Amino acid sequence: MSEPTVLGIETSCDETSVAVVRGRTVLSNLVSSQASLHERWGGVVPEAAARAHVEAIIPAIHEGLSAAGSPKLDAIAVTNRPGLVGSLSVGVVAAQALAKAWDLPLIPVHHLEGHLLSPFLQPNSFDAPEFPYLALLVSGGHTELIAVEGYGEYQVLGSTRDDAAGEAFDKGAKLLGLPYPGGAEIEKLAAQFSGKPRYKIPIGLRSEPLDFSFSGMKTALLRLVEAEGDSLNVAEAAYVYQQAIVETLALKFVNALETRSFSGTAVAGGVAANKILRDRLQRESERFGVRFSAPDLSYCTDNAAMIAFVGVTRFSNPHSLADAEPQSVANLP
Ligand code: KG4
Ligand code: ZN
Repeated sequence: MSEPTVLGIETSCDETSVAVVRGRTVLSNLVSSQASLHERWGGVVPEAAARAHVEAIIPAIHEGLSAAGSPKLDAIAVTNRPGLVGSLSVGVVAAQALAKAWDLPLIPVHHLEGHLLSPFLQPNSFDAPEFPYLALLVSGGHTELIAVEGYGEYQVLGSTRDDAAGEAFDKGAKLLGLPYPGGAEIEKLAAQFSGKPRYKIPIGLRSEPLDFSFSGMKTALLRLVEAEGDSLNVAEAAYVYQQAIVETLALKFVNALETRSFSGTAVAGGVAANKILRDRLQRESERFGVRFSAPDLSYCTDNAAMIAFVGVTRFSNPHSLADAEPQSVANLP
């Protein structure tokens, strides 16, 4: 049997995305970002996001299908949770209508499962992770260490007690006067600093081996900004703040690798686009003799290719189609 071809739709937050994936091959992946719309408010405004999805979804579906060469589809996969309800509804209703009109199975997908399996979207299958692997999932809403035993088999090992890593980047960026979303801005600014930093940001929750805490770092950055006033070296502040976030993530990642053996490791989610983090996790994985997989940058932040790929894994396994109901997919938080 040839590999299934799945149309993916993702509208959980502020990106309208449509993709077509065949097996592990991405035939098209269209992402229309609303970042410039929300920038003026310094964060995503749910009402405005839903409205922008309504405007973008039909053209995005047309473009996504035609960029893929309008192939024959086997199923439609759509993010149905978690996310902004108004935004999710736009994608779900569009997917339901198409599934009905084209008589195709509809596969509801948990957004985090999409991120979790995104390291499989590799042109070279050698770069894809091997089960069981340790995944560090770091996005704007989540920070989790997850043991991935197989498709649909996930065990959460640790998570954040307060902010998510991406949220910590975004809040830190705001304190430094940088635009939203702030992760990439902090990375760019931090790269301008060289030498030995004078500023210090402490690592949170050292006592808990697999859980994370970022709120103390944010407070420490606020104190630093207040104390330095106009003489603040913004690049140095961005550098130490990024270092503290990366250090925390790497520390817990290593702790998880020490608890049991894995065949590989992976990083996923928007924060996985951070080069300093990727390099650090790669080095730590090499120390443990396991292969590290990271998605291409375009599959780190929200995209429909990862959602379509989850659809591919469900479609290939006839037993799991029935499990694809909103309540029973992956016991992710
Ligand atoms: O996965 P994602 O696109 O959306 C969620 O599901 O939350 O992640 C967005 C998050 C934002 O907080 C953004 O600041 C962060 O990913 N991010 C980064 C970088 N690029 C995006 N954080 C650090 N370094 C980056 N280069
Ligand atoms: Zn996401």
